[in-house]
Amino acid sequence: MTDQPPKANNTPPARLHLGAAYYPEHWPAERWPEDVRLMQEAGFTVVRMAEFAWSTLEPTASEFNFDWLDRAITMFADAGMVSVLGTPTAAPPAWLIQQHPDILPFDEKGRQVQFGNRTHFCVNSLEFHAAVQRIVTAMGEHFGPNRHVIGWQVDNEYSRVCYCDRCQRRFQEYLQEKFESLDALNERWSTRYWSQTYTDWAQIPLPIGLHNPGLRLAFKQFVTESYRRYQKLQLDALRPHLPPGVWVTHNFMNWFDAFDHYALTEDLDLASWDWYVGTGHLDYLAAGAAHDLVRGFKQKNFWLIETQPNHVNWRPVNNTLNKGEGRVMAWHAVAHGAEAVLYWQWRSALGGQEQYHGTLIDPSGQPRPFYSEVQRLGREFAKVSHLLAGATTDARVAILNDYNSRWSIQAQPHHQDFDYVAHLVHYYKPLAALNIPVDIISADVQDLSRYRLVFAPALMLINQRRAEVLTEYVEYGGRLVLTARTGMKDDDNALWPMRQPGLLAELAGVEVEEYFALDEPVPVKGNWFEGYSHQWAELLNLTDKLGAAIAHYGPANGWLDDQLAITVRSHKSGLVYYVGTYLDEAAQYALLERFTQTVKLSRPRITAPQGVEIRTLVNPDKTEIWLAINHQRTGKIVESPWPVLEHLSGKTFEGKFKLAPYGVAVLTRPD
Ligand code: GLA
Repeated sequence: MTDQPPKANNTPPARLHLGAAYYPEHWPAERWPEDVRLMQEAGFTVVRMAEFAWSTLEPTASEFNFDWLDRAITMFADAGMVSVLGTPTAAPPAWLIQQHPDILPFDEKGRQVQFGNRTHFCVNSLEFHAAVQRIVTAMGEHFGPNRHVIGWQVDNEYSRVCYCDRCQRRFQEYLQEKFESLDALNERWSTRYWSQTYTDWAQIPLPIGLHNPGLRLAFKQFVTESYRRYQKLQLDALRPHLPPGVWVTHNFMNWFDAFDHYALTEDLDLASWDWYVGTGHLDYLAAGAAHDLVRGFKQKNFWLIETQPNHVNWRPVNNTLNKGEGRVMAWHAVAHGAEAVLYWQWRSALGGQEQYHGTLIDPSGQPRPFYSEVQRLGREFAKVSHLLAGATTDARVAILNDYNSRWSIQAQPHHQDFDYVAHLVHYYKPLAALNIPVDIISADVQDLSRYRLVFAPALMLINQRRAEVLTEYVEYGGRLVLTARTGMKDDDNALWPMRQPGLLAELAGVEVEEYFALDEPVPVKGNWFEGYSHQWAELLNLTDKLGAAIAHYGPANGWLDDQLAITVRSHKSGLVYYVGTYLDEAAQYALLERFTQTVKLSRPRITAPQGVEIRTLVNPDKTEIWLAINHQRTGKIVESPWPVLEHLSGKTFEGKFKLAPYGVAVLTRPD
């Protein structure tokens, strides 16, 4: 089984991978060769197995049954496919729950979760930890050295938040470590308010419903910490058995908000995620933000470890994607940094909760119509794998993302429609429509110097460190865009005793005199646009002579009439904008186009009409590659200033050429 170890760490992936989740334990072994054949014919290079297979891998405590998985891995290897293994811990088996019923978590309403679905574990249960350690260590020992296993996925989609007594005690201990004294906690949380002063750590509740903002934020951080420890337990059990170059990931759910994804991905080798459109169709401008978010977790390329084979089963309407749309989704992911596309799943188990989910193979064991689209992808990936493997996005624009600010706003939105992510994506979309590559990165990154333009949407929580990084960025010539709801709170979700944007007020040369949740749109007139502010408006004052007005409010509620809505302040060659409004889409597009015009951004010189995405990637040998993706159901004209070689068709084009409906072109300049 164990021959040579795979290549050393950080070597660029040899290829672009295509594959699916496959559960051999659902099928008689006699069927497997037919699945292998069909996968080969689809051009698969990878299979993902074993997640959720706990009851098959360990039918009773400490009795392991790994032969079947050995056989499956070998069979795929013989057919030229590598394996990614999941630890099965998101599905604790019935025997374990019978032994330790206490593993079952409690929901917010105090009800204990029943056995019979998945993620039915309390992330802080020590009995559970012991069982996890046992199965993961055994799997690591057994499968870790297998050279056909190139990577591991820990657990599946962390999501459950538990409200049991044990979690409450752990939360109290966590707070004790964080604040050291009750006096400090009481002070930071202003607990004299409504007589919440704590005199014993044991008095501190878990936040259910409305609660003290400090406590609510700390609880989110505690959930992050709980999952991080749980993940670490698995990493420590696995890593000693993995040869160099074998990575460990977890499959995240893009904007999911239960924990801080930057903290969790810090401990992993690779970020990966599960992308489902669900109801409706691909909105590539918004989906691009999700990919860029995941690429930003580790600031490197990622795996699309699950995606939708045409339809899901968990939405009110599980419509099917249009013919061609699934293929475009895969290319869109690659264009944003996916180094692998894996469908969930190959074939539905005959029973179980997900019988209606899309698959590549139907219950009869024959390919579904979508299979041929994947086959086409397989051929295409094989053609351009050498070109795209390890190719990266060279973005000069960043959007800062911050879970603490998001949680703070989520807990007290002040306007029910104000959503942190929607607001962030409101800044992303116009850039994406202009085909300007963007990195979405943590608001805590220390060095922004590679960026020409940085957006910090609703960076509600500001601290000294963040203020210093942003100040340095601007002082060295960076352009920073601050937006509504910036700089109001400190790290404990308490208000700063100063006007917004708090520690950034001097840098921005502006102060927010008042904020308004809007019940009706307010007109905004700018130097280059006219539009409306909706949901939110901040009344701004310039605080020094280096600041200038960019937009004013029109007639509104009296308070806002003719007041400043957007400002700019210069710092030698650096600039800070403060956008106090939440503009309508047309005005936002005009504003952002202007922002991008003031900085030199390398835009692809290959052009196309709206609805066609043009992404530039640079591969490790510095070749520039352009991906042109037509997200429309009608043909579109693409124009290149120089001759280009289109690698999927092998044709060379000059000037204008046509992209078919849902067409994709992979272009380089011929030597
Ligand atoms: C998630 C899970 C998968 C599967 C799919 C269905 O992403 O990780 O196991 O349930 O949803 O869409």
